[in-house]
Amino acid sequence: MYALQQPQALHPFHVTVTTERPHHAEAIEALVDLDFGPDRLRKTAYRLRDGVAPISDLGMVAVDGSRLLGTIRYWQVHVAGAPKTLLLGPIAIHPDHQGQGIGSTLMITSLDNAKALGWDAVILVGDEPYYRRFGFRRALAENLALPGPVDPARFLGLELTDGALQSASGMVKRAAH
Ligand SMILES: CC(C)(COP(=O)(O)OP(=O)(O)OC[C@H]1O[C@@H](n2cnc3c(N)ncnc32)[C@H](O)[C@@H]1OP(=O)(O)O)[C@@H](O)C(=O)NCCC(=O)NCCS
Repeated sequence: MYALQQPQALHPFHVTVTTERPHHAEAIEALVDLDFGPDRLRKTAYRLRDGVAPISDLGMVAVDGSRLLGTIRYWQVHVAGAPKTLLLGPIAIHPDHQGQGIGSTLMITSLDNAKALGWDAVILVGDEPYYRRFGFRRALAENLALPGPVDPARFLGLELTDGALQSASGMVKRAAH
């Protein structure tokens, strides 16, 4: 199960981590394009985001003044046999500011918020060597499928409440819009 961890100390320049607001949207698209390229929109995870808004309470940004340095977003999905489940992503940190603890701070802060707001589980497609430190495990998504091709080793799950993904199975579905 997900357990509280302390974020790493942020790099000693002025970085603020705060809730995403509508005026961040344009800079977020530009930052995610910078990290992942415009082809990202073809990825399977985006099929679960088509026409669905991210959860506004959970989106967070890291800013230095008016500069956007990092973003994390979450989307509701439906998983048979699982209670309230989120899809995490994208998370993107500006290339000049990676490895400074910003990603970890965004992950830990937003997962804590998700748990406090009553979400039970989180899934994502990403690098297991990075996400395992936050408690994500391949085994928790093993009985689930996504609506398109994905490297199974990168399809991970996290329980925010004990046993939330234990009976989960089948195709992950996009939330209604
Ligand atoms: C991946 C990403 C979100 C991590 O955020 P960050 O702020 O750079 O990372 P942090 O400073 O919080 O953490 C740094 C640690 O994560 C590790 N790490 C970073 N990216 C990693 C990856 N893709 N796989 C494994 N470990 C990774 C670093 O080696 C470092 O490890 P250490 O603490 O043992 O030294 C960020 O680098 C990013 O946006 N990258 C571009 C997009 C990308 O490559 N995404 C791939 C993941 S899906």
